[in-house]
Amino acid sequence: MSEQVKRFIRVDHAGEYGAARIYAGQIAVLGRGPHAAQLEHMKAQEQVHLDAFSDLIAKRRVRPTALLPFWHVAGFALGAVTAALGPKAAMACTVAVENAINEHYTAQRDALAGDEAALRETVEQFRQEELEHRDIALAEGAEQAPGYRVLTGLIGAGCRAAIRLSEII
Ligand SMILES: [Fe+2]
Ligand SMILES: [Fe+2]
Repeated sequence: MSEQVKRFIRVDHAGEYGAARIYAGQIAVLGRGPHAAQLEHMKAQEQVHLDAFSDLIAKRRVRPTALLPFWHVAGFALGAVTAALGPKAAMACTVAVENAINEHYTAQRDALAGDEAALRETVEQFRQEELEHRDIALAEGAEQAPGYRVLTGLIGAGCRAAIRLSEII
């Protein structure tokens, strides 16, 4: 297995771990409100994504990122803080995160060659589910969140930095 594929599995595991924590943070704040079912649906899909990459980490003996304890806290905090700003801010967070993940998975999919067809298919399937999350968030009025552009700009930049760090650390 190439170093590139190891890096892909490491960063995807980290990203799905963080995503599950973001939704857990949102549910901690909004879990009794009208968005509960949607948030639970998205969190359940993130858990499937995370389980798939946890399996790959174990089966293919890839070292997980050393930053998992940090993503544990930072992911939950991002979800909880944006949810505390209101449901539309929580949805804006989802748009920013899922857009960043979509770019990331698109680049990976395009880089994965024939001998990694199964991984390529996994990445593509998850990418489509991330887009579904983004579309749910847009349908819930994410763009009406106060400070939408600043909020999504900051969160998107944070995600891209987190992706770069998790590839190497
Ligand atoms: Fe995911
Ligand atoms: Fe997602």
